Amino acid sequence: MELTDKVALVTGAASGLGLATSQALLAAGARVLAVDVDEGRLQQQFGELSNRARHRVVDVSDDLAVQAAVAEATDAWGALHIAVNCAGILGPSKTLSKGQTFPPKLWNRVIGINLTGTFNVVRHAALAMTANQPNAEGERGVIVNTASGAAWQGQMGQAAYSASKAGVIGLTLPAARDLAAHGIRVMAIAPGLFETGMSAGMPTKVSQHLIDQTILFPTRMGRPDEFAGLVRHIVENAYLNATTISIDAGTRVGTR
Ligand SMILES: NC(=O)c1ccc[n+]([C@@H]2O[C@H](COP(=O)([O-])OP(=O)(O)OC[C@H]3O[C@@H](n4cnc5c(N)ncnc54)[C@H](O)[C@@H]3O)[C@@H](O)[C@H]2O)c1
Repeated sequence: MELTDKVALVTGAASGLGLATSQALLAAGARVLAVDVDEGRLQQQFGELSNRARHRVVDVSDDLAVQAAVAEATDAWGALHIAVNCAGILGPSKTLSKGQTFPPKLWNRVIGINLTGTFNVVRHAALAMTANQPNAEGERGVIVNTASGAAWQGQMGQAAYSASKAGVIGLTLPAARDLAAHGIRVMAIAPGLFETGMSAGMPTKVSQHLIDQTILFPTRMGRPDEFAGLVRHIVENAYLNATTISIDAGTRVGTR
């Protein structure tokens, strides 16, 4: 799908991978509704932009809020062609720690945002996309989900995070199958370690250990614009569908 004048919804758009993706889509000529829970950063990043960018506070785990965001995009610009799920949290905790089990509230929060939040966007975006005129290829829309290498190689403390990301990979194929008849592609990206707000929250010792011990080449964190470039490619390449692409410089992690 060509990006010029297309309408995109990007979640987690105030920071890191979602911010870089929003900027890349805008630079390619698309219109972007940037959503996030962080109003201050949304305002800072998107407040001064042209009428091709809008922003809105949305918690992706809130189904009605996601539905309202999709409605804002279609009301403002007449259609929604692209949805990119980048909202996510880590929520680390061990299965057992100091005589306590993994906090059930934290489990539900991580699954609620990373997995249910992703599917909320898939559902509502897909419904809006069915109203689009198909292009010459028959395409009406493209949805890109963000999983993680942790889906396959979760480390200690990542039970909820890994489960949520494995769920994102799991839903991508059946959603693509469900939506193929509507001309909507669904893809997922599994990033390795990227330089974002999320990785900035890690102790430097931990991130340096990951860089030194687990990344094959080049031995550095990924840059958000490298992720954004892959999103752009997925949108533009009609032959990519129903699969997960790793972008991780050959990372293989150990237990911790
Ligand atoms: N950075 C990495 O190394 C890495 C690796 C693998 C996967 N990921 C995934 O990439 C995605 C983007 O993360 P990032 O690294 O850019 O982190 P980030 O913390 O920089 O950005 C995540 C954004 O999501 C927003 N957010 C959190 N909860 C939300 C909610 N309920 N509703 C809407 N927005 C919400 C945050 O406010 C933040 O702006 C996440 O899904 C993350 O799990 C990141």
